[in-house]
Amino acid sequence: MGTENLAVSAEIPRRQVDFVFDPARVPIDWYRGDPFQSTFLDALSLLFPEGERFFVESVKKLRHHVTDPRLDADVTGFIGQEAMHGKEHRAFNEMFQDQGLTSAAKLERQLKGLLALVRRGLPARSQLAATCALEHFTAMLAEAALRNQRMRDEMDPAIRPLWTWHALEESEHKAVAFDVYRAAGGGYARRAGIMILTTIIFFAFTAWVHAHFLAQRRLLFRPWRWARGAAHMWIYPGYFTRLLPAYLSYFRPGFHPDDRDTTALLATWRERLFGDAGELRGNLRGAWPSQEVA
Ligand SMILES: [Fe+2]
Ligand SMILES: [Fe+2]
Repeated sequence: MGTENLAVSAEIPRRQVDFVFDPARVPIDWYRGDPFQSTFLDALSLLFPEGERFFVESVKKLRHHVTDPRLDADVTGFIGQEAMHGKEHRAFNEMFQDQGLTSAAKLERQLKGLLALVRRGLPARSQLAATCALEHFTAMLAEAALRNQRMRDEMDPAIRPLWTWHALEESEHKAVAFDVYRAAGGGYARRAGIMILTTIIFFAFTAWVHAHFLAQRRLLFRPWRWARGAAHMWIYPGYFTRLLPAYLSYFRPGFHPDDRDTTALLATWRERLFGDAGELRGNLRGAWPSQEVA
């Protein structure tokens, strides 16, 4: 997977990592000890394996429009990174399923059904526009997570590596789907329209999964139990509300993901996670193109 093409991208390497998630040792409320926010992030994670498979497919369908060898190499890196995210998030999802969120399997089947409808109902360019929209979401969240020490500190140390590694790579490949969309002749009206549609469906489906998880924790009808978590997300520090300007910037006709320069941020994080003394060096099993592995 991810090796269809000989050209490789140094900026978007495929890092083969391996994390261990022990359901007996990781607290079920792994984010701030807060069930509302932990189950929200569990809900997001549930979407990743199938969602990222959809991203990869949508890019592959229009890859033949890419003539720039550098972008083609980036596509290879993108495919490799997303495949690895799916694998590790699946391991994480199995952990919280073992901890009691047993509705996860049924919800993932529903997601598969939803994505099958999208594949059947939308032309390839619109499917890729949906990927661009969701890649904008992941890029915003990734940048916030990499810049915000407090947000990272609020994660249990056993889970933090999964999200920081994923954040680094989402930021590394944030422009790939967008550039393929443009190479395939994708225009502004479709991109903006699909963003609106994607936002509605994404929030509705995430809320659906989150509600099921809250119900399994017997918290759905006890809003006083989860109000604190909701306030933390939306009011203070209000991580999601703070992303609104970045979200709206997507509607500028001249928008490009690289408008937000994350070059220095990424250099710092590559070194911090995978440098010679990197925090995740021990989780690295290999990298392609080659990266020396301790
Ligand atoms: Fe990803
Ligand atoms: Fe991505």
